[in-house]
Amino acid sequence: MDERIVTGEQLEEESAVELSLRPTILASYIGQDKVKENLSIFIQAAKMREEALDHVLLYGPPGLGKTTLAAIIANEMGVQFRSTSGPAIERSGDLAAILSSLEPGDVLFIDEVHRLPRAVEEVLYPAMEDYFLDIVIGQGPSARSVRIDLPPFTLIGATTRSGLLSAPLRDRFGVLTRLEFYEPKDLAAIIERTATIFDMPIQEEAANEVASRSRGTPRIANRLLKRIRDISQVRGEIEITLKTTKLALEMLQVDDVGLDHIDHKLLRSIIDGFNGGPVGLDTIAATIGEESQTIEDVYEPYLLQIGYLQRTPRGRIATENAYAHFGLSKGDQ
Ligand code: ADE
Repeated sequence: MDERIVTGEQLEEESAVELSLRPTILASYIGQDKVKENLSIFIQAAKMREEALDHVLLYGPPGLGKTTLAAIIANEMGVQFRSTSGPAIERSGDLAAILSSLEPGDVLFIDEVHRLPRAVEEVLYPAMEDYFLDIVIGQGPSARSVRIDLPPFTLIGATTRSGLLSAPLRDRFGVLTRLEFYEPKDLAAIIERTATIFDMPIQEEAANEVASRSRGTPRIANRLLKRIRDISQVRGEIEITLKTTKLALEMLQVDDVGLDHIDHKLLRSIIDGFNGGPVGLDTIAATIGEESQTIEDVYEPYLLQIGYLQRTPRGRIATENAYAHFGLSKGDQ
């Protein structure tokens, strides 16, 4: 088995510290209560029947804990967790190699599952549905197809939007789970948990401050906390205070609702360049020099959630709230 394929780019890039920040059981996964409640029942039922858990699709904006949740599912099922990503599986043979090395019940996690090449996706359909592979060997008149039986397994796919998936692939997932942005109180609990792992106490007001400026996203909260801890440590403090937190967030150019300079650029380009919109996504992308897909997946979801941006058939509109954030009023323009 080629570990490179199975491990995937994502895990290789992550440090041991980051991995240890991830909870390993459902009970220590904070927030997403409805999701946890449902998954816990499906896991219990599959275990009672001694079956593999049905295939699970996790979707939602980046940084909300899809990979963490997938690893927790494997752990709670008591099976191996194998991880890869859509773009890492280039040929159907790569997928066949991974699938045929699975043990009964194992979890195969495919991040960015919407980026699987079409030919690979087609090999996946019978594997998901009936646990077999149909592999064509050879070319031309001598080509023949062989059937390889697979152990029952659970595919956990992750994607930023379920709409990016082809309908036949989406239909083969038994459990469709959407992760939502986290509430500030849940983010504060995550921040306190991380601070405990770092062995650096954080004042409650400081944790709340970071929480309210993390765009509902644990990955952002933990990233900010790391930088705030650096600053706190260099200043010789024994706990993270609200004062240091505010100073650090200012240095990091995170504003009072958690928007960073790219969010600012995006909103200001609509307000200043297009009179508040509507303006098409590709035009915004070209204006601010970011990929359309990145804007759509990474920046827009939170701006939509907090009501700073609206999507209309004619393009994106900056709302009155967005204007107010910059001390402007839509009527003044
Ligand atoms: N770290 C990142 N996401 C988390 C979560 N949902 N619960 C606990 N720790 C986390």
